Amino acid sequence: MLRLRCLVGVAVVLVAVGCTDDVETPIYEFGLFPEVAHTGFNPNATFKVMFGTGASDPKWSIDDPSIATIAPSAPPKVPRATVKSSSFALVTATKAGETTVTMTSGGKTLTARLVVKAYTDDQLAAGKARYDTESTDPVRKSCASCHAKEGGVDHSPLKMAGFDDATVLNVIQEATYPASGTTRSATSAFAPTGPMEFTGHKWNLTEPEKDGILAHLRSLPLGGL
Ligand code: HEC
Repeated sequence: MLRLRCLVGVAVVLVAVGCTDDVETPIYEFGLFPEVAHTGFNPNATFKVMFGTGASDPKWSIDDPSIATIAPSAPPKVPRATVKSSSFALVTATKAGETTVTMTSGGKTLTARLVVKAYTDDQLAAGKARYDTESTDPVRKSCASCHAKEGGVDHSPLKMAGFDDATVLNVIQEATYPASGTTRSATSAFAPTGPMEFTGHKWNLTEPEKDGILAHLRSLPLGGL
């Protein structure tokens, strides 16, 4: 009995250490993250993404200011993460299209791409319904039943904006990230590759629900902002 308790104790410590290493320690140097941010636009919803940098006193701009606005931001609230050594900017989409985000610091310039996709009211509604609606079908459980509860895994744009549509859909339907990572979160070293630990994360989406769920996830509030 005593031995079992010890093992459980060790297991808990290992999990905690694992989490810290994987997702909670920002490892910025001069970089600008994410390299590509995916978001959406719909006149009746708000789509925001966060860019982060370890550079000091950054100045931010957007090549095509008709596609999005950019403003320096307070650090987002990320549970258990240390983000105070980084600087952030919040981008709000104002039109569909693609443009470049530029960050300048100490005479050096870094750029990232911003991809804004148009979503219809129907797509947003289909995504919200799939997200919230309980079902007795085991592969159509409501996303909210896990993600909206206290301590649910964050999948807001804070974490997912760096991933393109196909990658996010594979995470939802096939429980896997691509074999090699090309991007990461704006707020942490989160750069997952390969199958997720939760191998049962294989949820059914109808054809219209695919764009719908992307629209819903990309329009969620992020980091308390
Ligand atoms: C039974 C609980 C459960 C349900 C239902 C569920 N998820 Fe998840 N989801 C998780 C867990 C746990 C993770 C983290 C898995 C891992 O990293 O191994 C996750 C991860 C994710 C991620 C990636 C975030 C990350 O940290 O890698 C996204 C995006 C996501 N879920 C979206 C959805 C959507 C959309 C639905 C509904 C169609 C859904 N989930 C349904 C529990 C759930």
